[in-house]
Amino acid sequence: MRTIFLSLLLLITASITVFAQVHIIPEPVEMKVLDGEFNITPELQIIYSEDELEKSAQYLNNLLYVTHWLDYPVSKATSTPAKDFIALKLNPSGSFENDEAYSLIVTTSGVTIEAATSAGIFYGIQSLRQMLPVQIEQTDPSLIPQDTKWSIPTAEIYDHPRFEYRGLHLDVARHFFPVEFVKRYIDLMSAYKYNRFHWHLTEDQGWRIEIKQYPKLQEIAAWRDSTLIGHYGTNKYDNVPHGGYYTQDEIKEVVAYAAERHITIIPEIEMPGHSSAALAAYPELGCYEKEYHVASTWGVFEDIYCPKEETFEFLENVLDEVMELFPSTYIHIGGDEAPKKQWDESPIAQQVIQREGLADSHELQSYFITRMEKYLNTHGRQIIGWDEILEGGLAPQATVMSWRGEKGGIEAAKMHHDVIMTPWDTNYLDHYQAEEETEPLAIGGFTTVEDLYNYEPVPAELSPEEAKYILGAQGNVWTEYMHSGEKVEYMVYPRAIALSEVLWTPAEQKNWDQFFQRLQIIFHRLDIQGVNYAPHYKE
Ligand code: ACM
Repeated sequence: MRTIFLSLLLLITASITVFAQVHIIPEPVEMKVLDGEFNITPELQIIYSEDELEKSAQYLNNLLYVTHWLDYPVSKATSTPAKDFIALKLNPSGSFENDEAYSLIVTTSGVTIEAATSAGIFYGIQSLRQMLPVQIEQTDPSLIPQDTKWSIPTAEIYDHPRFEYRGLHLDVARHFFPVEFVKRYIDLMSAYKYNRFHWHLTEDQGWRIEIKQYPKLQEIAAWRDSTLIGHYGTNKYDNVPHGGYYTQDEIKEVVAYAAERHITIIPEIEMPGHSSAALAAYPELGCYEKEYHVASTWGVFEDIYCPKEETFEFLENVLDEVMELFPSTYIHIGGDEAPKKQWDESPIAQQVIQREGLADSHELQSYFITRMEKYLNTHGRQIIGWDEILEGGLAPQATVMSWRGEKGGIEAAKMHHDVIMTPWDTNYLDHYQAEEETEPLAIGGFTTVEDLYNYEPVPAELSPEEAKYILGAQGNVWTEYMHSGEKVEYMVYPRAIALSEVLWTPAEQKNWDQFFQRLQIIFHRLDIQGVNYAPHYKE
C-alpha cells in the first residue's frame, strides 16, 4: 500500500514537473521557471509601447488566435493593465547584452517582453510561443483537443544570441521553389531565431530573379530543357523542361515577409562562374563565340563571364535592380568554382591581364571581384563571396563565406576580414543524414543532427582578437537532389534546429542529451505544422 502511495505521489510530482518544464530551442542564456502559471483568457489584451512594435504585436495576435478563436485587442500604451496582458516594451536605454537581446517575464497576471530593439522583442515572442502548448501551431480548430490548457509557466528569461549572423541558405536555381514555399521556409527559420536568409538566385541551371532591363534572363535563362536523373554520371535525363523565376513584385513581397520576421535576405548573384544560364541568354558576355546552354546537369562548368566592359555594364545594371529590391547591406557575389581555362585562352581576358598589370587569371578573378565590390561599396553595400575570392588577392572590404572547410575563414579572419562559417563537412544540409541505402537520393556526404549540434564556428587556432571576425555561421541547402519542398524540409529539419542552438546559445551551455529531449517537443510542433522533417532522432 505504502509503495503504491509513494509511486502515486511520485507520478503526480513527475507530471507536475513535466508540466512546469519549459522547452525552448535555442536554449535561452538565463531562465528561471517558477511554479505559477499565466492563463490566456478571452480577456487578454496585447499592448505595445512604440509604433515600430505594431507589426510584432499583430504577429503575436495572429499566433494567439487559435487559443480562443479570437482577435485580441491590440493597442499602443505605455502602462499595462492589472491583469490579462502581454506587453511588448521597447527600452533602447535598457541594459541588454546586445542588439538582439530580450527579457521575458511571466507572472500570474501577465507577460512582459522587453528589448532595446524590435528584433529583441520578436525573439521574446518566439520564446513565448515555445512556452505555450504545442497546439499553438495548429490552424484547424477541429483538431485542437477540447481540454487544451492555454497557460504559460511563470518564468524569468534573460536572453541574447552568441552570434550576430545566423543564416540559412536556399538554392532555388538547381530546382525552383514557388513563393509560398520560400515564405514557409523563412517562417520556419524565424521560429529558431535565424536572422539571415541567403537566397541563391542565379546558377548554371537557371536564373531566378526578374531583371527588367534584360528580358532574356526571364525568357531564356530561367528555363532548362531537361534535368539529370539520379546521381552525377548516370547520363540519363528526364527531358522535362524545368524553370521559373520570381517577379520583382514577388521578391518585394518575400523581402517584406522576411523583414516582419526580422530576417534579412541576402541575394546571391553569382559571378564570374556558375553563369551558364545568363550566358545562354546573352552569349555576347562570354569569351567565346559559341552557343551557351542553360545546364541540365550538375557540377562545375568552364563557361564564365568574360571580363570585358560589356560584362561589367551588364552586372552593374543587374545589381542596380537587385539593390532596389533588397535593402540588405550585404550582397553575395558568389566567386566560387570559376575555372580559368577560358580566361587563359581568351585574347580579351589576356588583354585585361596586361592592361591591369595582373600576373595571371587568378589575379584577374580578384580584379573582377574587387571591381564589383567597388561598385557595390559606392552604393553603400558590402560584398560576401565564397572563399575562392581569397585566391589572387582578397577584395579590400569583402566578407568571406568559408565553405571548403574552415581554412579560408581562418585565413580571412587573420587578415581582419569578417567571416561566415559554412564548412561543407558539417554545414551542408544537402548531405546524407543516415546510412545512404536507407535514405532518399542526396548529393553525398554524411552529417547527422548531432554533428551539426557539436559544430563550433570559432576555430581554436584564432586568437580572441581574430575570433571577433567570425560573425557566425550558416547551413547551406543546395538543391540538385531536392526537387520538392517536402524534400527540402526533410534535409533541413531538424538539422537546422541543431544549428540554431550553435548560433544562439553560449557554447559552454550546450548539452546534447538535454537538446535531444527538447527536440522531442519540437517534433510535435513540426508534426502539427506538417513539416516533413527527417525522423531519425525522434524517440
Ligand atoms: C559551393 O558549395 N560551391 C559554395
